[in-house]
Amino acid sequence: MTNPVIILGIESSCDDTSAAVLADGILLSNVTASQSVHQKYGGVVPELASRAHQQNIIPVVDAAIQQAGISKTDISATAFTLGPGLLGSLLVGTSFAKSFATALNIPIIEVNHLQAHVLAHFIAEKDSDFNPPKFPFLCLLVSGGNSQIILAKNYNDFEVAGQTIDDAAGEAFDKCAKIMNLPYPGGPLVDKLAKEGNAEAFKFAKPNIAGYDYSFSGLKTSFLYFLRGKTAENPDFIEQNKADLCASLQKTIIDILMNKLILAAKNLNINQIAVAGGVSANSGLRNVFVECGAKFGWQTFIPKFSFTTDNAAMVAISGHFKYINGDFGDISKPPFARTMI
Ligand code: KG4
Repeated sequence: MTNPVIILGIESSCDDTSAAVLADGILLSNVTASQSVHQKYGGVVPELASRAHQQNIIPVVDAAIQQAGISKTDISATAFTLGPGLLGSLLVGTSFAKSFATALNIPIIEVNHLQAHVLAHFIAEKDSDFNPPKFPFLCLLVSGGNSQIILAKNYNDFEVAGQTIDDAAGEAFDKCAKIMNLPYPGGPLVDKLAKEGNAEAFKFAKPNIAGYDYSFSGLKTSFLYFLRGKTAENPDFIEQNKADLCASLQKTIIDILMNKLILAAKNLNINQIAVAGGVSANSGLRNVFVECGAKFGWQTFIPKFSFTTDNAAMVAISGHFKYINGDFGDISKPPFARTMI
């Protein structure tokens, strides 16, 4: 009997330190330490994120190995996020992963964070249904740092069909939430409050951008000016209308996201449609996504909640496919902050 392929995945691109262990493509553990230190600043502070990764990385990796019930000498390769992300944060994860692999004399595997979000759909768990999309499929990748429509042609072949030219969808949620004095990250709170509100109460600007690209900075400005005007007349306007504001804002963001996805699916003639990234946790987006599936004859794929936000399981599964292909990394390659796929 051959030994299983055991991949240790490490994710540290933003403010989550995460490690996961995968054996022959089946998830054995996925441990994440999130950083609450940023809350009082209303956004991620890069220097504080790096310091917290430094504190978290060893206990998180140790816990992932223990929970998986393996020994570190069982690990076949270490996969890690090389980018894109915050450089200081990436330096912690990449340096740790390279040192760990060197000490164990095993290969390293570089993973692109955005591709990992798309491949999160292929994470298999013991005793759970496994129903991944078939290639080619479209993936709406929406997070705090990215908004893209990705055409996944194979495990290692991705094309960006469209992407934001300014803010990401998550940023639109978070920045508008901040204007309403909601704590960071505002996305989940807007989602919660929107459930009680009327989505037709207010109308905000939608961009007019060619092709499949997105823009969210105009919406943020329109939201800000609208509330400036209203609070000048009535200082309690936000408090009195919070649920309706959240519902209307959420509807606008979902409309913007879905209109381009519908267009891309139609023009590219693809009916396998997936969603990924932190904003895909949004309940309104999930509902509309499923409705569109029924309306347009799509087969839709929504990842489990724990695989939508940043996590190392998606890095480990990306590493698994690269391991099978013999696609190993180069220890001298530095992390990168920005990239296209
Ligand atoms: O993918 P992710 O965990 O991390 C990065 O982008 O680094 O995404 C985080 C983003 C934040 O902007 C957060 O507000 C948003 O995802 N988010 C949500 C929800 N849950 C997380 N936005 C709207 N509704 C949600 N339920």
